[in-house]
Amino acid sequence: MVDRRSSARLRPPRKNWIPIGRQCDRLENLHNLATLVVTNQGSVSPIMAVQHHLTFARERRVASRGFNQAMKIYEDAFPLQERASRDVVADRIRSGRERLMVGREGGDVVVMALVWPVTGFDYLLLDYVAVLDRMRGEGIGQDFVRFLFDKADEERKSVLLEIEDPEEGDDKGWRLGRVRFFRALGAKELRGVRCVLPPLQGNAPTGLRLLIYAKPAPKRLSGSFVRKLVSQVYQEVYGVRPNDPIMTVSIRNIGDEVVLG
Ligand SMILES: CC(C)(COP(=O)(O)OP(=O)(O)OC[C@H]1O[C@@H](n2cnc3c(N)ncnc32)[C@H](O)[C@@H]1OP(=O)(O)O)[C@@H](O)C(=O)NCCC(=O)NCCS
Repeated sequence: MVDRRSSARLRPPRKNWIPIGRQCDRLENLHNLATLVVTNQGSVSPIMAVQHHLTFARERRVASRGFNQAMKIYEDAFPLQERASRDVVADRIRSGRERLMVGREGGDVVVMALVWPVTGFDYLLLDYVAVLDRMRGEGIGQDFVRFLFDKADEERKSVLLEIEDPEEGDDKGWRLGRVRFFRALGAKELRGVRCVLPPLQGNAPTGLRLLIYAKPAPKRLSGSFVRKLVSQVYQEVYGVRPNDPIMTVSIRNIGDEVVLG
């Protein structure tokens, strides 16, 4: 279990607020700091710093409140076609094939991730990560993903991330925000690689970009390594057969060399 005092932010909820006072991103051990903000309507009001005291841990029990709270966050954050059912996730956690990582505040789960160690590779797939809807934009995601990356470093593993392609869908701003979010934490994009996530429930596929977090970060990877890694993830995690068209589409644009950036 890891205890972290996290994210005392003088950053107000980003929607309508423009801070005019002193602004800091990560202050430790500060309570109830006030700053002044001016709304986009021009009025000035004091706001309090958002501070979280989070405990990060692996949740191994599926018959638990923690599992149910994490699954609620997961189901609220991801559309049906992009997630496995609760029963499938429970089965994977029980068998140890997938790890459920959670961050709690005051005993309640406020952030969750599903992490899949890829068989035969020194890679962990960061399958999903989500913060409780009403607590997004307060630094929790950053702290949690940094914790997950540190754990991967300890295991001497790299992390593979699949992100919805910002060029698809009608929420380009959020999708670009997600790419920025992971890049700011040190992940690098596999340039030119475009994959297709088979529908996990329902029937709509999802376009994906891939990112990798590795320490030290390689500048390039061989195309054959990336093809093997993608192919392993597709077979192991999504149950796609090697000759499935979705596999062909996903690996055919991977050249001899993949540049990370
Ligand atoms: C993406 C997510 C995990 C980030 O956690 P967070 O606690 O909200 O983020 P933080 O406050 O630590 O960091 C802020 C950054 O996250 C991104 N972000 C914030 N809210 C977001 C949202 N609702 N959706 C997507 N990205 C968001 C922005 O890039 C932001 O960067 P900025 O400050 O430069 O604008 C969280 O917003 C979330 O759960 N989104 C829905 C699920 C998801 O998209 N998961 C990632 C793909 S697996």
